[in-house]
Amino acid sequence: MYYSEDLVEEVRMKNDIVDVISGYVRLQKKGSSYFGLCPFHNEKSPSFSVSRDKQMYYCFGCGAGGNVFTFIMEYENYSFVEALKMLAERAGVELPEIEYSKEQREKTDLRNTILEMNKLAAKYFYAQLKSEQGKAAHGYLTDRQLSEETITAFGLGYSNKYSDDLLKYLRIKGYSTEQIHQAGLANIDEKHGAYDKFWNRVMFPIMDVNNRVIGFGGRVMGDGKPKYLNSPETPVFDKSRNLYGLNRARTSRKPYFLICEGYMDVISLHQAGFTNAVASLGTALTSGHASLLKRYVNEVYLTYDSDEAGTKAALRAVPILKAVGISAKVIRMDPYKDPDEYIKNLGAESFEERIGQARNGFMFSLEILAKEFDMASPEGKTSFLHEAAKRLIGFEEELERNNYIEAVSKEYRVDQEGLQKLVAKTAVSIGLATPAQKAKPTANRDRPKEDGTQKSQKILLTWMIEDEHIFSMVKKYISPDDFSTELYRTVAQLLYAQHENGETNPAKIMNHFTQEEEHREVAALFNTKIQKLTTKEEKEKALQETIIKVKSQSIERATKALDPTDMAGLQKLMNDKRDLDSFKNLHISID
Ligand code: CTP
Ligand code: MN
Repeated sequence: MYYSEDLVEEVRMKNDIVDVISGYVRLQKKGSSYFGLCPFHNEKSPSFSVSRDKQMYYCFGCGAGGNVFTFIMEYENYSFVEALKMLAERAGVELPEIEYSKEQREKTDLRNTILEMNKLAAKYFYAQLKSEQGKAAHGYLTDRQLSEETITAFGLGYSNKYSDDLLKYLRIKGYSTEQIHQAGLANIDEKHGAYDKFWNRVMFPIMDVNNRVIGFGGRVMGDGKPKYLNSPETPVFDKSRNLYGLNRARTSRKPYFLICEGYMDVISLHQAGFTNAVASLGTALTSGHASLLKRYVNEVYLTYDSDEAGTKAALRAVPILKAVGISAKVIRMDPYKDPDEYIKNLGAESFEERIGQARNGFMFSLEILAKEFDMASPEGKTSFLHEAAKRLIGFEEELERNNYIEAVSKEYRVDQEGLQKLVAKTAVSIGLATPAQKAKPTANRDRPKEDGTQKSQKILLTWMIEDEHIFSMVKKYISPDDFSTELYRTVAQLLYAQHENGETNPAKIMNHFTQEEEHREVAALFNTKIQKLTTKEEKEKALQETIIKVKSQSIERATKALDPTDMAGLQKLMNDKRDLDSFKNLHISID
């Protein structure tokens, strides 16, 4: 961090979170908070809350949350320093230049420069397409049945025949050859020197969720090779974390996305009214894509090409999506190659029907698996069922697993009870011997499964910041060490220290954490839903129970961790236990 804590806090305090977020989201006052439609996932009724008292936001739908810095970082896709700069400017706080390291400044500058160049290039390509030189390219797109409106909406363009045209243009605009190369817009080699990466191609600008041009795809008009050329990875372009069309699909307000393979598929689908289509950029779906998708939807329909490669890609995508909690369905495109061709031949209504007939991702994978076995012979079918049983173990939740067992037994006409037994047997023989072969996705960090221990701790912390009386009461019995994770303990320590100084300022606590994921977690901590309690007695009883839970869990943890030779530790534990017992019989009062 290059700026002092005080300065960061000053900027935060001078940017009221409700005012800032109101510039992005329509908020309505409800009780002590403001509510609106969450900008980080698709929803129809508002679960995105902003609190002026806490100076925090939190979405009860998707778990996005943090202080004003987090919001700007997430919404604008900014780094912390970028968000700080923007908010400092907004509030008229001057940031000292020197505190900014040279390296850091160069890095941010390069990112900004590349974004500027990309934007200029996109405009340039667009102008070319609309000019005389772009006639053939324009004709190519209209032959592919794209309307003028669609061409404009997606900012399609044309890179003309001269292989140094964009270079010249960008140099006139003041960029160096090296910068143009760093943006991925030019190649440099010993023999030819610098030359345009894209020439004589139809251009597809690739945008991030905030509509900034981060790269390009370029298609030959005809059968040349390679069919598509794409920008290389640059400081602003990471293929594994961006999806083509997401900038438009995110506002489609549909509960699911259509995922396809190609640029043209996305564009055709949008033109036909399926504005929730996105594509991974010529790469297989990654867990980075999956967690990006999870911000917006819980369900996706895979509409991959009907060839073998497309089928394989769909099979690979299903578990990656499942790992972050997205359920996948598969849409068949046959007898056509891809969504673009399907729609051209059979139209939007027919595509809609295919959506209706989509296959559940798991059942689809079994259907493909079945092709490897001779299902007409008893041995073949038995082997198939053994493999299917292995896969069924993957459903950890019993209810879900049983539903799939039922579906499989119906589909492949086997006795349901028999299949159930086979699954159980398989689980014992292999499932338990080898640890569940479920992928541990990075995205799981975003929303870890809630355990009961943490829930009580969260309730307590939320309560404490919302009610001064409760804080003073809890403090007598619970210390920061009683919280179970590093993050919770740090938060509690900071909070207790603030309380000593007569302030309660949860949004400031967030300044201590640098990761957006930590911000989410802290925001969740301070926004736990507390059951509506009306009478004073009810409140007191609930509070006492929560304190008892947190304290006894803490003692339990300490007992497990205790070194048997640590006599002082043992003594402390015994004291704690005794105190807890007497606390149980105490009547606590919160006024
Ligand atoms: N792709 C690529 N490089 C290639 C071929 C394909 O990056 N040489 C990527 C592109 O993003 C393309 C996607 O993979 O959109 C799907 O490829 P393909 O199915 O071959 O092309 P289509 O999207 O069907 O393109 P078109 O309809 O223009 O032929
Ligand atoms: Mn195609």
